[in-house]
Amino acid sequence: MQIQIFQDKESLHRAVAQMFIDAVKAKPNIVLGLATGSSPLETYENMIKDHQEKGTDYSGVVTFNLDEYIGLEGTHSQSYRYFMNTSLFNGLNIPLDQTNVPSGIGDVNEICKAYEEKITSVGGIDLQLLGIGTNGHIGFNEPGTSFDTRTHVTALTQETIEGNARFFESEDSVPKKAVTMGIQTIMDAKKIALIAYGSKKAAAIRDMVNGPITEMMPASILQNHSDTTLFLDEEAAALL
Ligand code: GLP
Repeated sequence: MQIQIFQDKESLHRAVAQMFIDAVKAKPNIVLGLATGSSPLETYENMIKDHQEKGTDYSGVVTFNLDEYIGLEGTHSQSYRYFMNTSLFNGLNIPLDQTNVPSGIGDVNEICKAYEEKITSVGGIDLQLLGIGTNGHIGFNEPGTSFDTRTHVTALTQETIEGNARFFESEDSVPKKAVTMGIQTIMDAKKIALIAYGSKKAAAIRDMVNGPITEMMPASILQNHSDTTLFLDEEAAALL
């Protein structure tokens, strides 16, 4: 794993956005893996700003998001589809039908299967963006998830429900299940960029980088990935 530590969040987000912008310029039909949560928000703002000011072209880009809550329509303000449309896609010239977020409505097992097939049919993910949960989850792959999983249905842990409750009216309204790319789906990405900042992430970053590779710390598998870069601020890197 390569590790880059930034003194402030602004330069961290600029660096991640630049990595994505350069990748899109180098391969106009690139397949991007994208993430939700607060971690990538300002990275997306930087990508939109660059598109508006410098015209970086996303018309040939295809995207796959990591995950979606089960039971939320794409129009629900807390669905990840809604988040992606409003935080990134609507600010770029990417046709929405080239953006894929797993649906949390319908026959979810069938949705998982079709999602994997679609990723394979476009040649796999070239560059995957990740955040990390305080318990080391990536996507919604909670501790204990098998390393060989592909897109599947998962139950959220209490820690994740509490962590994400701030985005909902109450803890009770946080969905309890999600569709998520599996660990193997993520590991198949050719290149990975993981963003983490703030002291709340420090222990997870320490365990991911220096701890044993174990399914109890899902992100630790990234030690085995050949091209992963961590973009950290000093607080998230404090225990390294
Ligand atoms: C959610 C998402 C993850 C994300 C995590 C951390 O659980 N499913 O993909 O990495 O939250 O969120 P945040 O970036 O807001 O800290």
